Amino acid sequence: MANSPHFQIEGLKASIEGKEILKGLSLEIKGGEVHAIMGPNGTGKSTLASTLMGHPKFEVSGGTVTLDGEDVLDMATDERARAGMFLAMQYPSEITGVTNADFLRSAINARREEGSEISLIKFIRLMEGKMKELEMNPEFMHRYLNEGFSGGEKKRNEILQMLMLDPRIVILDEIDSGLDIDALRIVAAGVNAMRSEDRGFLIITHYQRLLDYIKPDFVHVMMQGRIVKSGGPELAQRLENEGYDWVKEELGIIDETVGGSEEEEFKIPMNTTAPKY
Ligand SMILES: Nc1ncnc2c1ncn2[C@@H]1O[C@H](COP(=O)(O)OP(=O)(O)O)[C@@H](O)[C@H]1O
Ligand SMILES: [Mg+2]
Repeated sequence: MANSPHFQIEGLKASIEGKEILKGLSLEIKGGEVHAIMGPNGTGKSTLASTLMGHPKFEVSGGTVTLDGEDVLDMATDERARAGMFLAMQYPSEITGVTNADFLRSAINARREEGSEISLIKFIRLMEGKMKELEMNPEFMHRYLNEGFSGGEKKRNEILQMLMLDPRIVILDEIDSGLDIDALRIVAAGVNAMRSEDRGFLIITHYQRLLDYIKPDFVHVMMQGRIVKSGGPELAQRLENEGYDWVKEELGIIDETVGGSEEEEFKIPMNTTAPKY
């Protein structure tokens, strides 16, 4: 496949404020593949997403990330986007003063050569069409980016960006959180329509529910800042039925969160029935 992406993460380590969060994570995504990363809270999933997009808060301290052999870690965030990487964030930022349409048009044009920018008419037709697919109210075109959007509206808007930017490597961080079942169906349909040999997906989720709608080819479990188990869709099903405890038992993990490896005995056990505040 001429345009099929090959995305490779090897031994990736990253820290924030001196604390190591990602502890040697490896994953290979090829065009046409959908990979799901599942894991309890605090295991480093969002850190992985942010690090892959080059968020300045996270410092890479080891490993490599390449897209078609090109060093991604050497690229600024906008260069990563231009190379075809896209992240739908777990907590999208609100930007007052920039409308959704302004933002998306700039993002599309930033990926084009000077002189071949998308015309306003074409852009509006494209945006209107994609918004219709996602059953979004047309007024969202001219609203300030994410300002006052509900959780579900923000997520739908992230998917709108994905549809319009036509990325090659798509990372979705908990796109299902805050979505009711109808919105989840619409979002999943948007993702499924984008599945092709020219694109690879990394879907980060806490719950198996999303994977009923977007069927992954590979499922990985993340704990303590690394992938501790991989399998096919049946792994997600087992996690849904049995939770994460059996994985921890199998691997001898007591605390799955980042930082839970060395200082076990100094930690308050996770499962104590603490009083509700
Ligand atoms: N901006 C930050 N500053 C300090 N610590 C952070 C920051 N972001 C994440 N962490 C820490 O990194 C660990 C993993 O967090 P995160 O990647 O958000 O996990 P997940 O997405 O799996 O819930 C947590 O211990 C969290 O407190
Ligand atoms: Mg997260």
